[in-house]
Amino acid sequence: MAERRRLLVLHGPNLQLLGKRQPEIYGTTTLDDINRTLRERAETSGFDLDIHQSNSEGSIVTLIGDRLGKVDGVLINPAAYTHTSVAIADALAALAVPVIEIHLSNVAARESFRHHSYVAPIAAGT
Ligand code: DQA
Repeated sequence: MAERRRLLVLHGPNLQLLGKRQPEIYGTTTLDDINRTLRERAETSGFDLDIHQSNSEGSIVTLIGDRLGKVDGVLINPAAYTHTSVAIADALAALAVPVIEIHLSNVAARESFRHHSYVAPIAAGT
């Protein structure tokens, strides 16, 4: 049987509030709902998921660094740190595995400060 691949799933700051946070922008699906769906899909697709949410930039950087050589890819919604964090982008680049940057809203259609992403240049897709 093929070896299961390991994916690190990271939800950034304020995403623990999904479902209640600005539902007109982010919808009413909760983080638990999202994680449940991810686990179901991972199970049938042959992935093991390592899922975390953190509001702290340093914790996210440390967590990513701890996974060096231990994951095959990363799904990350860096939330507001998308637009501010060189440190998170550097940590992701150090892993040297495919990274998918995820957003729930259409950041390109929102305020101009959301148009720039430090993660995008090292991401395999958004
Ligand atoms: C977000 C977009 C970011 O600009 C914002 O700071 C978030 C969520 C999104 O999923 O649409 O917190 O990453």
